[in-house]
Amino acid sequence: MEIRVAKTAGFCFGVKRAVDLTYGLLNEGCKVATLGPLIHNPQAVEDMQKKGALVADAIADVPAGYEAVIRSHGVPRTVYDELDARGITYHDATCPFVQKIQRIAAEAEKAGAVLLVAGDKTHPEVQGIVGHTRGEVFVFADLAELKAWKGPSDPQKPLFAVAQTTFQVTKWQESSEFLKKAYTNARIFDTICNATWARQQEAEDLSQKCDIVVVIGGHHSSNTQKLVQVAAKHTRAITVETASELRPEWFADVKVAGVTAGASTPSSIIEEVLNSMSAEINDSMSFEEMLNASEE
Ligand code: F3S
Repeated sequence: MEIRVAKTAGFCFGVKRAVDLTYGLLNEGCKVATLGPLIHNPQAVEDMQKKGALVADAIADVPAGYEAVIRSHGVPRTVYDELDARGITYHDATCPFVQKIQRIAAEAEKAGAVLLVAGDKTHPEVQGIVGHTRGEVFVFADLAELKAWKGPSDPQKPLFAVAQTTFQVTKWQESSEFLKKAYTNARIFDTICNATWARQQEAEDLSQKCDIVVVIGGHHSSNTQKLVQVAAKHTRAITVETASELRPEWFADVKVAGVTAGASTPSSIIEEVLNSMSAEINDSMSFEEMLNASEE
């Protein structure tokens, strides 16, 4: 069996930045509390906890003497106000691509516009974006929900439309096409980040050439689950959080297996999964050899 590894597999720019910042603080001897799990990867979070980081579910849980880290998903404006009010030193690892959407949300408020957000209303990134406007907001998960929307409370109100950075590219394309026709005054901002575009594109390409695609990532990671959905359009797609979840029977009759990973999957876990797959199947091919073979 041949194993093809996606070049884009693993940490994106924003996640790497947040992880490097947190380890940097820990290495300097700072007491660090992240506001929620820093990334959607339990193994990586556990490693940070072993090195002394705390996960605070609320600002009130940040102990005295600890410095807070805002994760790459970002937070609503009120969180900054509360951190300031409590005198907590904080480090902001909000991804610049998310900050851009938060600025658009603030602009929407200034313009008296309704903010339309394509995304998952329970996801912290979306809650953070929504928390940067006090104006009218509508969050939709797909075209069907957008079509079911009754429209702004005042039809004269302008509309600003954005997408969660990890939204599924094809779903955004069909939603923005609909918006252009149904609301000709809508300003549409393409805010899916480049890392997401590249990962989904590569997952789609891989899935057309492989009998199975293994997506490595947290079971609660939004971008990981999107990669599974994209790959599943063309082939069998499965997701594992660690190498221990791999099942040899998945690879019976498989000639070519593709491997990709979500934006919050550490390279050590990708390496473990690839080593485990190669041990099962290819006997001797190392992680580096597989990566090199994929690049040829
Ligand atoms: Fe930023 Fe995109 Fe990663 S928004 S955190 S670079 S998935």
